[in-house]
Amino acid sequence: MAVEGRLLFRGAEAELYLVTWGDGVALAKVRVEKPYRHPAIDKRLRWRRTATEARAIRGALEAGVPAPAVYLVDPPSYTIVMEYVEGACKLADIVEREFEKAKELTARLGRYVARLHKAGIAHGDLTTSNVLVRGDELFLIDFGLADLRAGLREKAVDLHLFLRSLESTHPHVVEVMMESFLEGYREAAGQEAVRELVAAMREIRLMGRYREERRTAWRSA
Ligand SMILES: Nc1ncnc2c1ncn2[C@@H]1O[C@H](COP(=O)(O)OP(=O)(O)O)[C@@H](O)[C@H]1O
Ligand SMILES: [Mg+2]
Repeated sequence: MAVEGRLLFRGAEAELYLVTWGDGVALAKVRVEKPYRHPAIDKRLRWRRTATEARAIRGALEAGVPAPAVYLVDPPSYTIVMEYVEGACKLADIVEREFEKAKELTARLGRYVARLHKAGIAHGDLTTSNVLVRGDELFLIDFGLADLRAGLREKAVDLHLFLRSLESTHPHVVEVMMESFLEGYREAAGQEAVRELVAAMREIRLMGRYREERRTAWRSA
């Protein structure tokens, strides 16, 4: 399909257009070509991520995790038409502006991610920029890297990525936000699940550090 509409956002890998849909509006997410990738690989990636995103959103909604409703999926044009969450901002902005509200929302996010994980889905790119907030509502977006058969490791990567996004953009509140997130997760999944997950995340982080150290050692060698 060819998308006609007004360009609203240019994301890391997609362009997002406001389009008319029935007698209302919708958001068309179109994954665009990346010139640094081999064309065949690029097409395959965009096709797969489009299909994955639509499936993961459906799985999230079925698990009771709020995400934009999907209206249409068209992998051949790398396009998803979805509900436009009008007037939303990112959780990242709330963390900067309204600390108490951000804590509460982050606990709720923890509950949602626990539900998602229980359904066997890992988000794959869980950051404070991929969570939209409108009033008291919260929406998870950007599921293109999701894993629909996630094991403990993929789930722990979600946690690791979320923590890393806090560390890189909100270093002053990392501990408090992570505590809120885990509190919410614990409420939905239980203490044992959190313990397991945090242990797996620590391992991932340790390996990362090990790799970093090796790289530095290489460089100085
Ligand atoms: N359903 C939506 N409603 C409103 N805004 C959205 C919606 N989906 C995405 N956006 C906006 O577009 C931006 C990029 O979308 P995203 O799915 O994260 O693409 P990318 O993979 O390029 O990061 C988001 O950060 C958000 O501001
Ligand atoms: Mg994004």
